[in-house]
Amino acid sequence: MTFQSYKGIRAVPIRRLGEHLDQEVLVQGWLANIRSKGKLHFLQIRDGSGTVQAVVAKGAIDEASFEAAGALTQEASVRIVGKAVADERAPTGVELQPTLVELVGPSVDFPITKKEHGPAFLMEHRHLWLRSKKQTAIMRIRHEVIQAIRDFFYEREFYCMDSPMFTPNACEGTTTLFNVDYFGDPAYLTQSGQLYGEASAMALGKIYVFGPAFRAEKSKTKRHLTEFWMVEPEAAYYDLDDVMSLAEDFVSTIVGRVLERRRTELEDLERDVSKLEPATSTPYPRLSYLEASKLLEKDPTFVQGDDFGAPHETLLGDAHDRPVLVHRYPRKIKSFYMKADPQAPDLALCVDMIAPEGYGEIIGGSEREDDLEVLQKRIEEHELPMEQFQWYLDLRRFGSVPHGGFGLGLERLVAWLTGAEHLRECIPFPRMLYRIYP
Ligand code: 4AD
Ligand code: MG
Repeated sequence: MTFQSYKGIRAVPIRRLGEHLDQEVLVQGWLANIRSKGKLHFLQIRDGSGTVQAVVAKGAIDEASFEAAGALTQEASVRIVGKAVADERAPTGVELQPTLVELVGPSVDFPITKKEHGPAFLMEHRHLWLRSKKQTAIMRIRHEVIQAIRDFFYEREFYCMDSPMFTPNACEGTTTLFNVDYFGDPAYLTQSGQLYGEASAMALGKIYVFGPAFRAEKSKTKRHLTEFWMVEPEAAYYDLDDVMSLAEDFVSTIVGRVLERRRTELEDLERDVSKLEPATSTPYPRLSYLEASKLLEKDPTFVQGDDFGAPHETLLGDAHDRPVLVHRYPRKIKSFYMKADPQAPDLALCVDMIAPEGYGEIIGGSEREDDLEVLQKRIEEHELPMEQFQWYLDLRRFGSVPHGGFGLGLERLVAWLTGAEHLRECIPFPRMLYRIYP
């Protein structure tokens, strides 16, 4: 491990200061807040890993440092050398007693102040809004979730096999495709890596795809981005039950990991963790679409046979203390590649996982149609271009096997874990209808 240093003093991330008590350390960050009282300046310094208070006392430090500290403004960058001391009152248990304060870069009239700003203003300044306490907490939780996803699949020997972003075929219907001009030929940005994931599963058995997905969602909702991240495991010889078991094992493992390792962030976000704790245990409740519909009978906006809307998902999610698996939806409202239930051919062998507290669908998955002729018929029924699916049909021509998988929307999961109001706070630079800046 190499350590960064300045003037011979070792740099320490704020999050790690507790491991360096009574040592002289270097903190490199930005000023989150300053309060001055007589001969004392109280600086809140953040460096991305956490926040610490530095108390600068006149007389205990050279005059230039005292002046520099007093002149700091919000988001000015600063180097501080000082002693890390234990302090029970500090949220991190550590306070910094500086012996040197140096301005690195000034910051004049930082646009985001302590007063309330509307979402439009914050979105316009996303590049700066990202520095705030809540936003950095959400980003660190997102980071933890991504690592938990990679570890989960690595430990279970699923190979990472990413799918292309440019594709000639639609996976999830033709209404949300983004068109691109591919050297004169029409192509699309991928809506899902699944179809290629199926080919990869026939090569490597158990795989996952993890990358961005693009959907030209033309409605403005708090649950839809036009560019979002999706993780999609796919496994040969998996049936719907295997897919459901994998999904609940996966989500419960990630929730457990975030609760274990990101307590500080959840506290910064004032997240009620008692709402997440039940989701660390499996099994999750399972309901068929028909059973779920019965729960919605009293809701006049629900039409039997239709897909659930956001309010219906909220009702279903609220009825349980942990995510719920809803399986076997009517085939006509689902994607072309889903296998029909042999017991009830109008139903698809599919599953959605619905999160509690109104966060809606976080997972969509299914067993795939593995019969060549049936799949050809589905492609025709959905009016998809047969010639672009020849490679996909080959998977059914050469050693077809039962198989299945699911896709989990990363930002939807992060929104639920962090209690974020809107998906736009759960990705560094959100892309939405009418939003491509910054
Ligand atoms: O249910 P979806 O459309 O399923 C698929 O794309 C399958 N091909 C996945 C598979 O089986 N490999 O999308 C999967 C998940 C949803 O449950 C949701 O969490 C998320 O992706 N999602 C979105 N997240 C943010 N913004 C959007 N516009 C989203 N659309 C889907
Ligand atoms: Mg879905």
